[in-house]
Amino acid sequence: MAQTSMLITGNSSGLGLGLSKAFLAQGGKVYGCSRRGCGLDGDCEDIRCDLSDFDAIPLALEALLSEAEGLDIAVLNAGMLGEIKPMHQTSVVELQQILDVNLLANKVVLDWLCNWQRPIKQIVLISSGAAVLGNKGWGGYALSKAALNMLTKLYSHEFPDTHLTALAPGLIDSVMMEYLCTSPDPQEYPALARLHDARNSGAIPDGDAAGEKVLAVIPELLKYPSGSFIDIRQINDPEEYARVFSA
Ligand SMILES: NC(=O)c1ccc[n+]([C@@H]2O[C@H](COP(=O)([O-])OP(=O)(O)OC[C@H]3O[C@@H](n4cnc5c(N)ncnc54)[C@H](OP(=O)(O)O)[C@@H]3O)[C@@H](O)[C@H]2O)c1
Repeated sequence: MAQTSMLITGNSSGLGLGLSKAFLAQGGKVYGCSRRGCGLDGDCEDIRCDLSDFDAIPLALEALLSEAEGLDIAVLNAGMLGEIKPMHQTSVVELQQILDVNLLANKVVLDWLCNWQRPIKQIVLISSGAAVLGNKGWGGYALSKAALNMLTKLYSHEFPDTHLTALAPGLIDSVMMEYLCTSPDPQEYPALARLHDARNSGAIPDGDAAGEKVLAVIPELLKYPSGSFIDIRQINDPEEYARVFSA
């Protein structure tokens, strides 16, 4: 491959958009996929696809990657939060919507990449600290990210020549964070207090800054066994990691 190339799902906003910009700025080629499109100039090919439409995914990837000889990196980043509320008030339909986008769409993408039979050096699935924290209100999102971690481990056996990681990217000041810091009641959901404090003190990177951080950490992930779940704070900020996960 002449040029480094990256597939990024969910690159129309937040982390995915920031990662796309950072990779383009390094001279890489971006293949993006989202419903809205990223609208970026430069060496970026983009396809619009609703990843909850599983039949549409293979067609979109075939069109997007038809000319690619392989990929250096695939970042399966697209995700949705759902509403913060108690599990017993969350319907099965709501859970299914979140699991479709955050988990099963990634299974369909991985299946397509597995059958593509072109070289892929590294796949990073964007997980979350919510995968292990189990905080009140994070219902469908936490379930989907916990299952995503196991999906990563399971598929690591089926990609012998590709390194897989489930990566929690840390807090990002995106649309998701805007919702978390404005809508649910922090008295009702105590885990929100840490997010409010961090946001008010300006400690949460925006999508562009988070994209640069994630891009910088991607090569570090190769030091861990394929299939691992890694939190970016383990690498960049072990004290903050210990604080969050011992609380
Ligand atoms: N924000 C945080 O603090 C935080 C913390 C830990 C982990 N994460 C994870 O980081 C990833 C990015 O989140 P973000 O904070 O950057 O949120 P965001 O700004 O809301 O971005 C979500 C992206 O996913 C795409 N997406 C959502 N549903 C889709 C669908 N049905 N089909 C295709 N694309 C879809 C969106 O594109 P379209 O709307 O254009 O389709 C958008 O580009 C997610 O996996 C999230 O769980 C975020």
